[in-house]
Amino acid sequence: MKEVYLNGDFLPEIEAKVSVFDRGFLLGDGVYEVIPVYDGRSFQLRGHLERLQSSLDGVRMKNPLTNAEWQAMIEQLIERNDGGNQSLYLQVTRGAAPRDHLFPQGVTPTIFAMSNLLHPVEEKYKKHGIAAITLPDIRWHNCNIKAITLLPNSLLKQQALEAGAQEALLIRDGYLTEGATSNAYVVINGTIYTSPKDEKVLPGITREVVIALAAKSGIPLLEQGVTLSDLKHADEVWVSSSTKEVLPVTLLDGNKVGSGIPGPVWQQIDVLYQHYKKDVATWH
Ligand SMILES: Cc1ncc(COP(=O)(O)O)c(C=O)c1O
Repeated sequence: MKEVYLNGDFLPEIEAKVSVFDRGFLLGDGVYEVIPVYDGRSFQLRGHLERLQSSLDGVRMKNPLTNAEWQAMIEQLIERNDGGNQSLYLQVTRGAAPRDHLFPQGVTPTIFAMSNLLHPVEEKYKKHGIAAITLPDIRWHNCNIKAITLLPNSLLKQQALEAGAQEALLIRDGYLTEGATSNAYVVINGTIYTSPKDEKVLPGITREVVIALAAKSGIPLLEQGVTLSDLKHADEVWVSSSTKEVLPVTLLDGNKVGSGIPGPVWQQIDVLYQHYKKDVATWH
C-alpha cells in the first residue's frame, strides 16, 4: 500500500482525509509541484522548492515548511514508497475554513504529498514524435503560479486528446505561450526559441535544464516568443515537462513539422538531457 504525507504524518493513502471545508476543495486555493525521482533521488529539487516558494508568494501564502523540512519529508516519502523512479506530487492549500472568498485568518495550511509511479517516456514518442493541436490560451493571467486550479488546462488537454493529439499548444494574442501541460520550443534556422519567463507561462524546471544545456553546448537559444505563423513554419517544435522530459512534436494541426520526423536539434538536446539526468543521479 502506498504511503502519503498529510500535515506532518505519513500514512497509508486510504487513511488520508481532508476536510470538505478545505479551500483547495471549495475554491482551488492552493499550489503544487511535481518532482521526478530517479533511482530514489529527487531531480532538480532546489529548483522545484524555489518555484514552490514563488507560487506561495504569488498567492500570498506563507511557506509552511523550511526547505530542509521539505527535503527531509520528501526523502522519507521516497523511501517509504520503495525508492526507484517516482513522480512526487506536493500540494499546499490555504487550509479549512468557512467558505468565503476572503482569506481566513489564523488557519493552518493543508500540506499533502504523494508518490506515483514515474512511467518511462514512451519510446514511440521519442522515435516518431507526438501530435499537437493549437488552441486559444484560455487560462488566467498568472500562469507563472503553479496553482491547483487546472480546469482550463484540463479542458485544453482533453480537447487535444479528442482530436487525436497528445498536447495542446496555446496561442495568446497571436503568440505561442506554452503547452497545456508543458513548455514549448520552436527551432528556426538552428536557433531554439522559447517564451520568456513572465506571467503567461509556467517557469518550467525542465525548461531551465534545456536552456542551461543549450548554453553549455553552444546551441543558440533565445527566450523570445514566436507567432502562430512562425510556429506553423518551424523546422522543429518540442515540448518539455518534468515527467515527459523533452519530446518532439512532429504533427501540428494535422500538418508535418519540418520533415515530419524528430529533428537534429531535438536529438542533440535529448542526448544532453539523458546524460545530465545520469550525472545528477550519481552526484546529487
Ligand atoms: C502549463 C505547464 N507548463 C510547463 C510545465 C513544465 O514544467 P516542469 O518542467 O517544471 O515540469 C508544466 C508541467 O506540468 C505545465 O503544467
